[in-house]
Amino acid sequence: MQIKIADSPQIVAADFSQWLINLLEKKDRFTIALSGGSTPAVLFKLWANNYSNTIDWSKIHFFWGDERCVPPSDEESNFKMTNDLLFTKVGVPPSNIHRVQGEANPTEEAKRYARVLEKNVDIIDGLPRFDLVMLGMGGDGHTASIFPHQMELLTAKPWCAVATHPESGQKRVSLTGPVINNAANVAFLVTGSSKTEKVQSILQKESTAKNYPAAHITPSKGSLYWFLDKAAANLLS
Ligand code: 6PG
Repeated sequence: MQIKIADSPQIVAADFSQWLINLLEKKDRFTIALSGGSTPAVLFKLWANNYSNTIDWSKIHFFWGDERCVPPSDEESNFKMTNDLLFTKVGVPPSNIHRVQGEANPTEEAKRYARVLEKNVDIIDGLPRFDLVMLGMGGDGHTASIFPHQMELLTAKPWCAVATHPESGQKRVSLTGPVINNAANVAFLVTGSSKTEKVQSILQKESTAKNYPAAHITPSKGSLYWFLDKAAANLLS
């Protein structure tokens, strides 16, 4: 595991981007599962403003680690956020965008998306192996849409599962733990003081960490990186 701490979310995004560019140079085709929420928004704005001509977008195939079960036009949609901030600003071929159909029946979509992965992601050791799974972490220690009340999704056999947000009850389609842990690279981008305690618990391997899904993301053959800002890393010794 490698940890990189930066002064601000913007510098976290810049550090992650430089790291990603090095990864991209080694591959002709690159598969990435994006995270949602607010942290990636900083990154996508940076890519749109500073990297539109630096990154060869045609080699990247975009997937999602999780998606809210809402239409792609909904403000809650991770696809919408990515499309508005990134895809409409840089030249990503539409055939490289493999969105979860949030407007569909969640159970059916989880099955369909698994088939999308089978067709478009390398299958290694019997599971999709993304070149990179990008993750955030919620203040409760959830990651992707694996929440503390659904820890069974960390070991579920299906590659994609229907999850439920613990407060809102919103349905989500999420990659399950075995797929995430089969990735060649997993990178957490975690910023803000609301994550400080969970970051300390997980990265310092405290006993409480077992209750947090993000603590169970330990790629078996891949590399794990935590990109943090100072606020999120404030309690790390
Ligand atoms: C989502 C994300 C989720 C997110 C965390 C952190 O769909 O919401 O995939 O797992 O990464 O909730 O969100 P913030 O970056 O907004 O804190």
